[in-house]
Amino acid sequence: MIGALRAAFAKEDPRAKAEAALALPRDLVPDPDAQWPDRPGRPDRPVLVAARDVPKRSPAGPEGRIALLHALAHIELNAIDLALDIVGRFAGCEDLGGSEADFAADWIGVAAEEAKHFLMLAARLEALGSVYGALPAHDGLWQTALRTRASLLDRLAIAPLTHEARGLDVTPGMIARLDGAGDRESAGLLEVIYRDEIGHVAVGRRWFAHVCARRGLEAGPAYAAALDRIALARPHPPFNEPARRAAGLAPSFDVDFLHAKVVEPAEMPANPRFLGESS
Ligand SMILES: [Fe+2]
Ligand SMILES: [Fe+2]
Repeated sequence: MIGALRAAFAKEDPRAKAEAALALPRDLVPDPDAQWPDRPGRPDRPVLVAARDVPKRSPAGPEGRIALLHALAHIELNAIDLALDIVGRFAGCEDLGGSEADFAADWIGVAAEEAKHFLMLAARLEALGSVYGALPAHDGLWQTALRTRASLLDRLAIAPLTHEARGLDVTPGMIARLDGAGDRESAGLLEVIYRDEIGHVAVGRRWFAHVCARRGLEAGPAYAAALDRIALARPHPPFNEPARRAAGLAPSFDVDFLHAKVVEPAEMPANPRFLGESS
């Protein structure tokens, strides 16, 4: 069964990768002895450049809006590969202690949602006259993945609990700016992504707590130590506290980091523009 996972990870065509991720069975049994490649298959385009050379993402005009959606599609493609990678690389890891099947099922579910996000954004780019691959993109997310390839604890601290949680902080502002630019259709896609991403952070929180419990670590200090190990700055306010709490994260990164009381997403404002971020 690991073969199907590896085949999806190796696909170079983004749409074929997304479709393969959507078709993966949830009850896939990882093979702890299988070799797992360091890099996923990727298309020739987009060209990967330094982050400073990626086009600006201000959604005020049509070009900026396309740049924003292109950057988000690139993040979602990376997110598919990150979800496949965490299963292929870590599902045999002893930190999971008998929970390998649950772990694999959770992350294959995440991979399927990331695939849905990529396909939605790619279709929207095409509706706006562009295509995924038309603009340069950067490789920052995969570089971070490589730096956390030896430690499940570090990977969970960085991918879902830092990058995806940061996505929760900034997405309401992007939705507001797209709405402000009159692009309700794109704003609506980001609302779907936003809701799903709360679930991805919650999955990351659950497995981070699991690994910390197995190792007898306090979650807050363990999170801070993971960021220090890969020299990543601690997230800073403003935080989207309702969304972080819905995912089970406290806004502070101390011992209270994994907040005990998880609010239901249903208790959150229906319109995520509650942050009031100015455009
Ligand atoms: Fe996503
Ligand atoms: Fe995600």
